[in-house]
Amino acid sequence: MLLSLTDEFRRIRCLRHEDVPVLMAWDDDPDLFQLTGKKFRRDDNQKDWWNHLVRDRSRLMFGIVNDGGRLIGDVELLQILWRAGEAEIRISIGDKSCWNRGYGTQALQEAVVAAFHFLSLHRVYLRVRVDNPRAIRSYEKVGFRAVARLQATGRLAGYADLRLMEITRAHYLPMVARA
Ligand SMILES: CC(C)(COP(=O)(O)OP(=O)(O)OC[C@H]1O[C@@H](n2cnc3c(N)ncnc32)[C@H](O)[C@@H]1OP(=O)(O)O)[C@@H](O)C(=O)NCCC(=O)NCCS
Repeated sequence: MLLSLTDEFRRIRCLRHEDVPVLMAWDDDPDLFQLTGKKFRRDDNQKDWWNHLVRDRSRLMFGIVNDGGRLIGDVELLQILWRAGEAEIRISIGDKSCWNRGYGTQALQEAVVAAFHFLSLHRVYLRVRVDNPRAIRSYEKVGFRAVARLQATGRLAGYADLRLMEITRAHYLPMVARA
């Protein structure tokens, strides 16, 4: 699913078809793979992947841009459960020269606003490796709180444990109003 955003959104924008080759190139980065896993399967072709994304109502993806408007990463709401009003979120800044410059935190803040205001969700959660302090710090700055520690299983077996973090609409909106 895609969503066009209003002008107040500066750090995220609607994903475009021409972004897909850039996302695919980042997917091959071994550092990113360690931290986020892969978005694309080996047999995915760009056109099918895009058509599937556009039609899939359980996921919504945005591009992340730097101050010059260049695509530097992506943030996605996935596993959207409309009746339960919840979704998982994942983020990846593929351009590593743009890490630690506040972009990830700003993109997450905007994606959470989109989730609560436009999609009317009540809860957004994420999973992060316990040995990824940059991501954890960024999530804490947005207002995510740790709720559980999960043992890595399946594809992730043997890797670091995961921290489950969440933010709720009831917690977030008063926080934004105070800021
Ligand atoms: C995780 C990610 C989205 C964060 O975005 P970012 O723009 O790099 O992060 P920000 O600059 O907004 O914030 C990073 C914070 O972590 C801090 N930080 C960086 N490295 C750190 C470390 N080793 N230990 C502790 N804190 C650290 C920074 O100082 C900053 O906090 P501050 O503003 O209080 O100083 C981005 O780095 C990324 O995509 N990384 C690769 C993929 C990934 O890890 N995705 C998350 C998977 S769950």
